[in-house]
Amino acid sequence: MNIQRFRPFNILSCLLMATLPTAVLADQALDKSVVEQIVDAQVTLAKGPYKGLRTNHTKGIVVSGTFTPAATASTLTKAAHLQDTPSKVTVRFSNAGGMPTIEDTNPGANPRGIAIRFELPDGSITDIVSLSVNAFPVSTPEAFLAFLNARIATTADSLKPTPVEKMIAETPSLQRFVAIPKPFPASFASLTYHGINAFQFTNAKGESHHIRYRIEPLNGQEFLSPEQVAAATPDYLFEELPRRLETGEVKFRLLAQVAEKNDVIHDPTAIWPEERKLVDLGVLHLQAPVPDNAAAEKALAFNPLILLDGIAPSDDPVLLARPGAYAISVSRRMAP
Ligand code: HEM
Repeated sequence: MNIQRFRPFNILSCLLMATLPTAVLADQALDKSVVEQIVDAQVTLAKGPYKGLRTNHTKGIVVSGTFTPAATASTLTKAAHLQDTPSKVTVRFSNAGGMPTIEDTNPGANPRGIAIRFELPDGSITDIVSLSVNAFPVSTPEAFLAFLNARIATTADSLKPTPVEKMIAETPSLQRFVAIPKPFPASFASLTYHGINAFQFTNAKGESHHIRYRIEPLNGQEFLSPEQVAAATPDYLFEELPRRLETGEVKFRLLAQVAEKNDVIHDPTAIWPEERKLVDLGVLHLQAPVPDNAAAEKALAFNPLILLDGIAPSDDPVLLARPGAYAISVSRRMAP
């Protein structure tokens, strides 16, 4: 495996690469000031900073397990974790937002996140980082920053229309995002998660397709009624998952939704038609919470562009902005 096209835009990326020597890191060139401003805006919204913690998706739980690839995966990609050999996985489930103590019953905790670190027998790693919605609110990092700033500028005293209402009224993708149902899950294990950003898969014959990940619970989705949400404890998801794992494995199927000719690849607000082919990539078997959650989540630095040969990023500007923002968050939480 080789390290491809890595153009360091700052010292943080170098640090990240140094800790991930086997990763194939993609081109991460992007205006540093925009990603830094996004991270700062996320911290402001969360009333942070919170020392030693993530700036976003701060409340999380880490579990360990294995991944068994499906035979169909190699028809799409030659990536090593999607061939015959099982890998070890470390998975972090999280609430949205940068508040470390956000109640699981708070609407602001939706959408939920899943971050998956695959570790192959040869020590190489690759990540998938996904959300429990199938679209992003906006198409570019600049628009994401504008949206976060509109949220910061909107207070209880704001005149109507508030800055957020104004931006939603002017932005059809935000209107679609707001309209996506975001019900409260019964469990982190009973939710479908979506990769949202597209990647290019290339198989051993050199054939390429654009795909989006989908991660489906084998037992199906399950949500709470409003009455159940009202009765739930502030940490109900974080209490439920360890209990569930005591009685057996939690399983998810990893799927690739395959784009067709005219599907929009570079825009995470564009939802591909539901009838697109879904190819089985394999099954995640989650077995137990890690022994020290706080230490594990501090050390884990997920990055959706830690990729293995056979998977490349699309030219989606939101995808390309993510590694820079995550690296800033990592360096801040590692700072003494
Ligand atoms: C411009 C767009 C985005 C920015 C700037 C951004 C920023 C961030 C930052 C700073 C973190 C904290 C990372 C860390 O400290 O390790 C984070 C975490 C996370 N983000 Fe994003 N994000 C973006 C888009 C997305 C998208 C499109 C998805 C899903 C498809 C996503 C899913 C997540 C998840 C699940 C986590 C938690 C990861 C973990 O458990 O460590 N983000 N994001």
